[in-house]
Amino acid sequence: MTPEPTELITGIRELSTQTDGAPRLADAALVVEGGRIAWIGAASAAPAADVRTDVGGRAALPGWVDSHTHLVFAGDRTAEFEARMGGQPYAAIGILTTVSATRAATERQLVAAATRLRREAEAQGTTFLESKTGYGLDLASEVRLAQVAASVADIVTFLGAHTVPPGVDRRDYLDLVTGPMLAAVAPHAQFIDAFCEVGAFDVEESREVLEAGRAAGLGLRLHGNQLGFSGGVRLAVELSAASVDHCNHLEPGDLDALASSATVATLLPACDLSTRQPFPPARRLLDAGASIALATNCNPGSSFTTSMAFCVATAVLQMGLTIEEAVWAATRGGARALGLDTGTDAVGALRVGGRADLQVLDAPSVAHLAYRPGVPLTWAVWRQGVRSGAGRSPAPLSP
Ligand code: NIG
Repeated sequence: MTPEPTELITGIRELSTQTDGAPRLADAALVVEGGRIAWIGAASAAPAADVRTDVGGRAALPGWVDSHTHLVFAGDRTAEFEARMGGQPYAAIGILTTVSATRAATERQLVAAATRLRREAEAQGTTFLESKTGYGLDLASEVRLAQVAASVADIVTFLGAHTVPPGVDRRDYLDLVTGPMLAAVAPHAQFIDAFCEVGAFDVEESREVLEAGRAAGLGLRLHGNQLGFSGGVRLAVELSAASVDHCNHLEPGDLDALASSATVATLLPACDLSTRQPFPPARRLLDAGASIALATNCNPGSSFTTSMAFCVATAVLQMGLTIEEAVWAATRGGARALGLDTGTDAVGALRVGGRADLQVLDAPSVAHLAYRPGVPLTWAVWRQGVRSGAGRSPAPLSP
């Protein structure tokens, strides 16, 4: 068998590995081979390789793991956003606007739009992402969305329980979601989710959906406590869901429940800004011992961004996280929320033998992600060892 060509990436002023033992290395290098990392260490001790790439004194870190997106949709909700900025409250009823446009779109249009967003995310350092269904809400449309999501995203979550479509009896819809729709979508998905929120699905309905998903072999995640006290956090912990997402309004006992569980609290700061919701208590969650992830929640209604760097900067500047905590939450935290923090398929950290998913910043340190908010700092991205995009200025970073 011909050996895979090796690439030495050197000139890394600061390598943030996000591993437990050696999170930040100075003047480092790494070798990529066959999509995996073959070596990590001091640049001065680097082995020879077929190709040598000098990143000129920049910082490198794992690619972002965006564990919560709704990437497959059609239509435009700019007017709704403008009205919201003019004082209208966010209402999940806007989901139905997207459902109509999405049902009317061709598969080709959906693939093209989702691919564009995926590329936009990757150009900003995201190397692994999840996408949900949930803008179809009938059997054929949800299957179509799951198939499109599977062709564009790394992980697919079935979100038939996003809202009850108009003209459909609530009980009939739940029977559809937990019966024939689940059976048809499950082969294309890894997780099931439900919108456990006041005005959407209550705790008992969400439990029914998640338990049906578990019986069909899917992992569990849950939208909870975004717009009010929905009971979603407690339900997610009770069912040992991989993640409970939003967590803006924690109820008494939620903090302790999360801290003593393996359920990750996935926080979505861009969504909080775009819906003018209070931020979740990120600092208190961490101090209590809970695991948190940061994700974009990219969707046309409540959070139309693919920028994980924006989420990291906001988490540091507005939510009281340190740089290290925010970067961990956007890499390892996302991986943990997807059940991919350990094992051969693990993502979100740079370790020998692991996936070569990394990004280089046009900056000497990861601190610049928050120190220079809003500046597009991604300089180069490798996904499974393959460099995407040309990178920007090839000149070394000035000292
Ligand atoms: O996470 N379950 C809620 N879904 C999205 C909102 C979707 C929309 O408004 O289109 C959310 O915020």
